[in-house]
Amino acid sequence: MSELEQNEAVSVSSEEAESEVFPTDINAATTLVGLFGWPVTHSISPQMHNAAFAARQMNWRYLAFGVPPDRVPNAVAALPALGLRGVNVTVPHKQAVMPHLQHWTPAAEAIGAVNTIVVEEDGQLTGDNTDGAGFIADLHAHNVEPEGKRALVIGAGGSSRAVVFGLAEAGVDSVKILNRTVAKAVDLAATMQSYFPETEFYSAAFPDDVTGSSQDADLIVNCTSLGMEPRIEGLPWEENVEFREDQVVYDLVYNPVMTRLLQLASTDGAKAIGGLGMLVYQGAIAWEKWTGETAPVDVMQQAANIIFERR
Ligand code: ATR
Repeated sequence: MSELEQNEAVSVSSEEAESEVFPTDINAATTLVGLFGWPVTHSISPQMHNAAFAARQMNWRYLAFGVPPDRVPNAVAALPALGLRGVNVTVPHKQAVMPHLQHWTPAAEAIGAVNTIVVEEDGQLTGDNTDGAGFIADLHAHNVEPEGKRALVIGAGGSSRAVVFGLAEAGVDSVKILNRTVAKAVDLAATMQSYFPETEFYSAAFPDDVTGSSQDADLIVNCTSLGMEPRIEGLPWEENVEFREDQVVYDLVYNPVMTRLLQLASTDGAKAIGGLGMLVYQGAIAWEKWTGETAPVDVMQQAANIIFERR
């Protein structure tokens, strides 16, 4: 039988028979996006993004690619060659991909890291960072408006850079950065000051300056790994420093869902928010940049919730 005849044979088969032979609807027209990281097997992004494609009945799929560090240049160059529309980028490649892109958004440039690559129609690659915007979107989802607030950010690593950028862009009055390695807090404050001259940036030492800094803060954000599984006893705070009822405490840690920091904050009557929503929103914003559609955030959130309840 010629190939043409075979194709005709397929097209006349009943839908029922087709679904038995082809258990998924992946076909030659499927559009691909994905994730570059090393390793990537722990990621919940494939479930989140594929749930969104299914909800919108789009013939798109999201795959996780474990890319060894020495293969990053080749993997990035392969994106337009293979027709992918974009990828998320996670640890440890968020900086390594940058020299291989043609454009960076202001967010990616200021944060100094890319978590989303968009393949433009002409094949050029744009590096973006949706972590800061995802954080702000989740604050809004919890009815917290950062504009005009005084923020206290604990940590000065990669996630902190995104959060500080997001806060400044959203119009906070001031950001104070506390970090164990004070030099990194000083450096981050200076970098962001150059991008946001209207915002006040301060830096100090963690944990020594927690007590002195806590009173002035409307919004406290943990951007360290303290409290994360498996060392859930970690606390990015001082045990004896109480929270006020009018304070918002946001923990970027989402595993466990209820960290020690969030427990203390909610016991004191503060508003306590875990980081799973930021993960969902940074993904939803990337999804929108690739597809041009409005992301079904509720579906993505539900997918994330299901995975965490199973864990
Ligand atoms: P991420 O990308 O998640 O931000 P990172 O860039 O490695 O990760 O940053 C981790 C942050 O957690 C840093 O601010 C780090 O402080 P240092 O800059 O002093 O290393 C902070 N951190 C990690 N473990 C810590 C600990 N045991 N005590 C205090 N801070 C800690």
